[in-house]
Amino acid sequence: MKHLLSAQDLTHDDIIALLDMADHMAEINSRPVPKVPALRGKTVVSVFFEDSTRTRLSFETAAKRLSADTMTFSASTSSLNKGESLRDTIETLSAMRVDAFVVRHKSSGVPLQITQWTDASVINAGDGWHQHPTQALTDAFTITRSFETPHTLAGRTIAIVGDILHSRVARSNIAVLTKLGAKVVLVGPNTLIPVHAQQWPVEIVYSLDEIIAEVDVVYMLRMQRERMETAFVPSLGEYTTRFGLTIERVSRMLEHALIMHPGPMNRGIDMVVDPAQLAQSRVLQQVTNGVPVRMAVLFTLLGGGSSQLSTGEEP
Ligand code: CP
Repeated sequence: MKHLLSAQDLTHDDIIALLDMADHMAEINSRPVPKVPALRGKTVVSVFFEDSTRTRLSFETAAKRLSADTMTFSASTSSLNKGESLRDTIETLSAMRVDAFVVRHKSSGVPLQITQWTDASVINAGDGWHQHPTQALTDAFTITRSFETPHTLAGRTIAIVGDILHSRVARSNIAVLTKLGAKVVLVGPNTLIPVHAQQWPVEIVYSLDEIIAEVDVVYMLRMQRERMETAFVPSLGEYTTRFGLTIERVSRMLEHALIMHPGPMNRGIDMVVDPAQLAQSRVLQQVTNGVPVRMAVLFTLLGGGSSQLSTGEEP
C-alpha cells in the first residue's frame, strides 16, 4: 500500500491489518514516553486547504510519536496567494524530500490528482463529499474496542444519522463498517440521502424514532452547511425535532448502545445532548483513537521496520 485515498480501496484484510497495527500503536501511546523511532528520517507534510482541528493535529501528533519530521503547509499564508498553482506547490514541497503528504481539500479527487505530481505517499485527510478514510478506520477501531470484539462488527447495527448527502465520513464509514460485517442504516430526511444510496450496501429509513431503540451505535453527523447551496430542510428547528439527538431519544437507546460523532458538533442542532455527560458517548474516545490509527496508517505506508516499534527506544 503506497497511498490511502479511499476506504473503498481497502480490503477486509487491509482493514484488519491496520486495526491490529493501531492496537500496537495504542499500547505505545499509553507508555510514559509515547514515542518510538520507527519513522526516523521520514518527513510528513500536512497540506490542508480546508479547516480542521482533529485530523490535522492527530496526524501531526502521530508522525511525531513515530519520530518522523513534520512540516505544516498553511494555504492562507502560502504562495498560492501569489498565483502559484496546486501542482507547483506540491512539486515544490516534494523537492524538499517529503515522504508523505496528508491532504485535505474541499474538492473531491484532489488527493488522487496529487499522486500524479509526487513520488511520495499521499493520504486523503478528507476531500469534499468523497472520502475521509482515516476517520472511518478510527470509528471502526473505537466501536470494536468498545464492544471488546477485536475487529469484527458481525451482528452489529450502526445507524448513521443526518446529512448523508454531503458526508465523506458517511461514505467512508459505510465501506469500512460493512466490510467488518456490520449492518449500516442511513437515517435522515430524503433530501439529505443521495438518490444512488439505494445501490449502497445499506438500509435507509427516514425516521430516527423508528430505529433508535434497535441499533448498537447511533452515529450522528453535522449538517454540512458549508457544502449546501440551497435549503435541504424547511428549517433547522424542524430538522432538530426529527433528527437531533435529545435526552429523550437517548433514553430509548439499547443499554449497551454507543453515541458517536466525528466532530465538529453543532450543539443544539444535531446534538441536543452534552456527550460529556453521557456514559454511552464515545465522542472524545474517537479523538483519542485518531492518533494510534493515524500512526498505524503512516507506519504502514512509510514502511518503518517493525523492530523499531517494540523497543520503545528514544530517538
Ligand atoms: N472529524 C474531522 O474530520 O474533524 P476535523 O474537521 O476537525 O478534522
